[in-house]
Amino acid sequence: MITMYGVIGDPIAHSLSPAMHNAAFKALGMDCYYGAFHVKGRYLHEAVNGARALGFGGLNVTVPHKEAVIRFVEADAAAREIGAANTIDFRTNKAYNTDAPGAIASLEDSGVKVKGRSVLVLGAGGAARAVTYGLLKAGATVTIANRTAQKAADLAAYMREYGEVFGTGMDNLREKVSISDIIVNTTTVGMGQDETLVTADMLSDRQTVFDLVYRPVETRLLKEARLAGARAIDGITMLVRQGALSFEIWTGVKPPIDVMERGARDAL
Ligand code: ATR
Repeated sequence: MITMYGVIGDPIAHSLSPAMHNAAFKALGMDCYYGAFHVKGRYLHEAVNGARALGFGGLNVTVPHKEAVIRFVEADAAAREIGAANTIDFRTNKAYNTDAPGAIASLEDSGVKVKGRSVLVLGAGGAARAVTYGLLKAGATVTIANRTAQKAADLAAYMREYGEVFGTGMDNLREKVSISDIIVNTTTVGMGQDETLVTADMLSDRQTVFDLVYRPVETRLLKEARLAGARAIDGITMLVRQGALSFEIWTGVKPPIDVMERGARDAL
């Protein structure tokens, strides 16, 4: 019998996760299917219980439900510490966060060492939370810079338990960029528009720029990074790695990353 998986979010129509996971199931000859389900906040609990009742193997949980879901699904330590989960495994009835390890894998698979590095995280929202946690656990020093400085200060204060982290505003961004080895954009700047917070003249070829935005894949920020000779890592790299980690939690099988990546890129 076919085993169902899926992603729940609001909105969900343009999710690349079905293409990515179904490509992996097909390549591995697994009798599984992954769908995308539009779930409003008021139905979140019912939707999770419903998927469990229908015999789903697992779910991905995306915006805006990642925080709410851990109120009623038991989360592992990392997801609890981050305060958000993006993966539910119905075999164990537990929630996990694969965004944090997915971000670290994106850097390390691209040949970038994280331990001991200075990382500038742009933004202090949900994505920044998971990324900052992953970076601190991997031994990086993190500066969170956010348009609303207080949110960066609050997130840094919360994350201080896990490593060396500072929170600031976006003022003197040029200097903050110049003293960083790695710059990670977790803001929505560049999503569907040709805008960037960091330009080529602020960067050098010794740096790595990692943009979580993947629509478009080649954001203005990544173009600026390449112009400066910096290493550029795109948002699909991250999407695929968090997805591959979810896949492994559900099935115990390490999926073919290249197949998932082609599935996601072809669906864009
Ligand atoms: P996500 O869950 O994807 O992280 P979010 O929680 O809505 O999304 O966070 C969006 C982030 O993008 C925030 O850090 C936001 O900054 P503020 O906290 O000041 O709102 C940032 N952001 C959005 N638009 C921005 C802009 N035009 N300039 C700078 N930062 C921006």
